[in-house]
Amino acid sequence: MQILDFNSKVFLAPMAGITDKPLRKLTASFGCGNIVSEMVAINALSRKNAKTYRIADVRDEDYPVVVQLVGSDLDLFADSAKLAEELGAYSLDLNMGCPVKKIIANKSGSYLMTDICLASKIISTVVQATSLPVSVKFRKGWDYNNINALEFAKMCEESGASYVTVHGRTRSEFYSGTADWDIIGEIKSCLNIPVIGNGDINSPQKAREMIEYTGVDGVMVGRAALGQPWLISDIHNYLEKGILPTSKPVAVVKSALLTHINWLVEYYGEKLALGLSRKYVCWYCKNMRDARKFRETYVRIDNLAQAYQEIDNYFDTYISEGE
Ligand SMILES: Cc1cc2nc3c(=O)[nH]c(=O)nc-3n(C[C@H](O)[C@H](O)[C@H](O)COP(=O)(O)O)c2cc1C
Repeated sequence: MQILDFNSKVFLAPMAGITDKPLRKLTASFGCGNIVSEMVAINALSRKNAKTYRIADVRDEDYPVVVQLVGSDLDLFADSAKLAEELGAYSLDLNMGCPVKKIIANKSGSYLMTDICLASKIISTVVQATSLPVSVKFRKGWDYNNINALEFAKMCEESGASYVTVHGRTRSEFYSGTADWDIIGEIKSCLNIPVIGNGDINSPQKAREMIEYTGVDGVMVGRAALGQPWLISDIHNYLEKGILPTSKPVAVVKSALLTHINWLVEYYGEKLALGLSRKYVCWYCKNMRDARKFRETYVRIDNLAQAYQEIDNYFDTYISEGE
């Protein structure tokens, strides 16, 4: 089944504080794939809070961006859906899976899996408020004793969702343990709308494994893409053309990291970008020799010129050794 008119079966997962414009642009620069924004709080967006408004503004991105909304108030959802559409969203996703306490306290995210009636009203309200396709991302259930993903998925379809994304963990598991692909397969076999599977995909082969095991129409990849902005495209090429990627030369990793930092600087300014780059540096050099020592040096750096210098020193040693 075709997933609407997306250009690929592969989605970069929404990740708060991570899938911002610099990372989306970098991911898109490697090729095909669909990209979901960080979650956007409807309370702040509908008030046109400057920071949130900027997060939702994807007008100058020349690849489709799914904008994810989080909240619980029906009117604010309707307002925010309209605003997000004006701000260039390609489609809208509703966050009904976030496990974070602050979000739950606001009756949002995975709390909505415990209030199926409110969740249904939210979906139909947003579907009516916008001409964009509306999807829903949710989990296996609240906890081990409250696994209701199948019932929830059917409700999403009946309420007008264009497709659903299922993360095979309960809210109480957060990100621990192994994602349950059986429940994803069960949902796929019962729904008429496309189903995207999510949880623990970390390679092109694992993506194919999930598709073959569950029958899903597409896959969503989160944590494994951190420090590997080419992964979404690699998975796409493997699924579509059977091309298995070779491991990336260190020069490619360095170049991606530098581009990422440059785009962080462009978007956030030098000071904030330097702070954010600390977490990215860790991910880019995760499996490299002496990475720990390099990271310890990098986190103490307080200016960008030195940051670039340290990156040169570290990566160029590898490159000169022909690795
Ligand atoms: C740091 C971080 C931030 C996340 N933020 C969001 C978010 O804003 N919205 C959302 O629906 N899921 C969010 N998630 C969950 C991911 O989208 C995804 O469902 C989860 O990581 C499982 O996929 P994976 O095993 O491929 O990482 C986040 C995950 C992480 C690790």
